Amino acid sequence: MSRKYIVPFLFLHFFILINAQIKTSNGGIPVRTPPMGWMSWNFFGDNLQEKDIHEIADAMVDSGMLDAGYQYVFIDDGWQGGRDSKNNIIPDSKKFPSGMKALADYVHKKGLKLGIYSDAAQLTCAGYTGSLNFEEQDAVTFASWGIDYLKYDYCNAPGDSITAKIRYKAMSEALQHSGRDIALGVCEWGQRQPWKWAAAVGGNVWRTTGDIRDKWKNIDSDFGSGILDIMDGNAELNKYAASGTWNDMDMLIVGLYGKKGPSSDLGGIGCNDIEYRTQMSIWCMMASPLATSNDVRNMNEATKRILLNKEIIKLNQDALGKQCERKVYNKTWNVFLKPLANGDCALAILNHSNVPLDFSLLFSEIGLGGKYEIRDVWAHKIIGKDKKWKGNILSHETKVLRLKKIHD
Ligand code: GLA
Repeated sequence: MSRKYIVPFLFLHFFILINAQIKTSNGGIPVRTPPMGWMSWNFFGDNLQEKDIHEIADAMVDSGMLDAGYQYVFIDDGWQGGRDSKNNIIPDSKKFPSGMKALADYVHKKGLKLGIYSDAAQLTCAGYTGSLNFEEQDAVTFASWGIDYLKYDYCNAPGDSITAKIRYKAMSEALQHSGRDIALGVCEWGQRQPWKWAAAVGGNVWRTTGDIRDKWKNIDSDFGSGILDIMDGNAELNKYAASGTWNDMDMLIVGLYGKKGPSSDLGGIGCNDIEYRTQMSIWCMMASPLATSNDVRNMNEATKRILLNKEIIKLNQDALGKQCERKVYNKTWNVFLKPLANGDCALAILNHSNVPLDFSLLFSEIGLGGKYEIRDVWAHKIIGKDKKWKGNILSHETKVLRLKKIHD
């Protein structure tokens, strides 16, 4: 090939490669930053009603959630009303009297997107109609309603990973043939290491852990996972998250305050605002999808400050798409580092002990040579220019610092 064609050829090749990679790695629809929205499960359980979802959609716009990036209304389990005489899946007509197409239209008019839920078996986790053997038909139905995202659960399905891969691939292919861009959320709770295969079978995001409960951490034998347990379960999986395919740490419990319902099972007694702020910090650092699950119609000021902090959200949505790396892990501290697209990096320091403690770190100890401008992301201000940081961190608090290199 003559030299004059080499550059355009390489460029074209690169372009095809990138697009092919996006097509095959996430089932045809690029989800370049972690999906953000509100999910119905923790607040409504399976008792969700069309009227409530309208109110939630209204509140997402009025409260500034949409403006902050929360785009999806994710309908979880409990919307289904079985199948009609032609085996089309239908919504429960008492809960959704106007139907799902009307709901999607309502949500879309507000600039939001609609997610829905099904399961890779005959029945879902809460015992409603699942999609096994109806993948193509259900995907076409979802597309005809205007659905933008499917959370695909794995209750009542066999435990082996070969079957899981087959069933998720079947749904992913069905979505790709449905005529609409519908993202796919794999929800088998990390039991078959989906970070190793879910992207290849078409998942955009995959849950890495069991269901989160509204608690700081699991104590004694109540078995429910809290913020710290989910964080630990996800911390070493950073190499599997990439732009377009994400480790999903389950819903944000911010603002639930032990409200009862699914998040209050298994010891979910609620958290304080410092702990909720830590959840937001860590989920953003780990580039997890952000699915709020509180009552966004009635948020107190503390909850709004946590969920609507655009600076922390910016770290979550950063174009480089890297999940943070855990640099320090001992019985008192967790320190995480997340590289960012513009060359800055975000540093999160979590005091998981039960007392406030002083902390000091020479940035070079975690591989950051040179001097940095230091910005406190929760305080929204530049707090110094230095090669180190020291300060006091409250019990269960996470400091998040954005570091911009000034010189070597
Ligand atoms: C499973 C999922 C939850 C929720 C429920 C619904 O437990 O992990 O997130 O979707 O099912 O029944």
